[in-house]
Amino acid sequence: MEHSYWLNRWKNRQIGFDQPSPNQLLLSHFNKLKLERGDTVFVPLTGKTVDVAWLLGQGLNVIGSELSESATIELFAMLEISPTIFEWESGKVYSSDSLSVFVGVFFELATEEIGSINAVYDRAALVALPEEMRFRYTHHLIEITKAAPQLLIVFDYDQELVPGPPFSISRKEILEHYSAKYSISHVAQKEVPGGIKGIAPAQECAWLLENK
Ligand SMILES: C[S@@+](CC[C@H](N)C(=O)[O-])C[C@H]1O[C@@H](n2cnc3c(N)ncnc32)[C@H](O)[C@@H]1O
Repeated sequence: MEHSYWLNRWKNRQIGFDQPSPNQLLLSHFNKLKLERGDTVFVPLTGKTVDVAWLLGQGLNVIGSELSESATIELFAMLEISPTIFEWESGKVYSSDSLSVFVGVFFELATEEIGSINAVYDRAALVALPEEMRFRYTHHLIEITKAAPQLLIVFDYDQELVPGPPFSISRKEILEHYSAKYSISHVAQKEVPGGIKGIAPAQECAWLLENK
């Protein structure tokens, strides 16, 4: 996916992925990561998800990475937080006490920028990327977060029926990405109402990635 693809989607408000309320699988299963107040969660490909509001409400700090500056501005506005804006090597950082979003390309972020991460919450990030980018994404995510434990939420459906994004991610693929570093458990799944794009019946699946 070209960067312009996502920037155009934001510009044209084609943001059907943006949820009206926090993700149910997040609410039900995030406690399995056993975080404490004050811990830091990395939310790759952040968008302007309301999940960030829920995470902040748990007393957690959140670090995000998002290509679109307008999405990031909307996120802070929704949260009613006035950010301080700094520069980082590849863009701007919108920052407050508990939330910082690195605007720019995820693949250019380094551990030095995001700091110490206690957990990763990936919802609609891995599934946003085509197969050829997914291995690069998971490799980089592991590297910059030093393999922090993760709650991963993906879609599983017949990719023959509709093209992504969101792409379908099978159990086999999750094992290929993450089994070298993590113990992986499938914690839950729920049917996607109406399926993907109203065509493909789909499950939304939550996976827990814990350090071996
Ligand atoms: C499907 S949306 C998901 C957003 C959010 N996680 C959610 O649950 O609503 C994917 C997001 O990733 C962003 N994105 C795509 N490629 C990116 C990249 N290489 N670096 C940073 N952000 C990227 C897009 O702008 C878009 O906001």
